[in-house]
Amino acid sequence: MDFQREYARDLAAWLENFAEELKEGSAKADKDVAEKAEGLLYMLSQRKILDPSFLRQLEKEAEHLYSHYVHRRNAGEQIERKIVQSETARVPVGGHKLPELPYSYGALEPYIDRRIMELHHSKHHQSYVDGLNKAEKELQKQRNNRKFELIKHWKRELAFNGAGHYLHTLFWNAMSPKGGGEPAGALARQINKDFSNFSTFKLQFSEAAKNVEGGGWSVLVWQSQAGRLEILTAEKHQNLSQWDVIPVLPLDVWEHAYYLQYENDRGGYVNNWWNVVNWPWAEARFSKVKDI
Ligand SMILES: [Fe+2]
Repeated sequence: MDFQREYARDLAAWLENFAEELKEGSAKADKDVAEKAEGLLYMLSQRKILDPSFLRQLEKEAEHLYSHYVHRRNAGEQIERKIVQSETARVPVGGHKLPELPYSYGALEPYIDRRIMELHHSKHHQSYVDGLNKAEKELQKQRNNRKFELIKHWKRELAFNGAGHYLHTLFWNAMSPKGGGEPAGALARQINKDFSNFSTFKLQFSEAAKNVEGGGWSVLVWQSQAGRLEILTAEKHQNLSQWDVIPVLPLDVWEHAYYLQYENDRGGYVNNWWNVVNWPWAEARFSKVKDI
């Protein structure tokens, strides 16, 4: 029941944001969609018993509304800027490619030199792409043989090169020759809510970036459980994560999760853990994130 309530709360929050966002636009069609989203929200708020079939139906209608809206918006709008393609494309194992920059190497001058952009993109980013492809293929080979040799090494390679590739792909899109200024819309509202104002956000982001030890990143992130924006830093960037992923199924293997019962037998704990996995929860979570 808790899960259904949580699910309904998430759905309500999504509908509310969607409607709010649409009402900002001037198009009548947007306002109509906003009204429909509010209608679904009203139905949800009036419902006494949150049974799964009702929630599924409501989610389906919300999805339908959203895809209709996206379709209409894309059809009616000229896309102003080329978005790096591999940010959203589905990529086969070992099939990552260096994305084209959405502008020329010299386009960010005088703030970022042409030579830096050229080396950064064509050499550094390329080596992450090559390393990621190699790690993915190697791991696929091991899956096929059901024999995971050097798993620690390949997981490290996967994280290091995957984080490098995904973060750089986001980074190229995060800059533009027409950039600068301040954000607008929902992002601006959320920044004001979570950081008081834009100038405090900018100060915290800059201080975080300046204080990363060694190489790394400063990243504005959305904390989906807390519903807040936060700034995190990634020293180096690998630490066994790829920074463009959304956890679907976590397993805690810190000693505090098993030691009292299993002592040093982590393997026994891992094997038994499969008996308590909540697949419906993971399925529901996956269905929400798979199109991001
Ligand atoms: Fe870089």
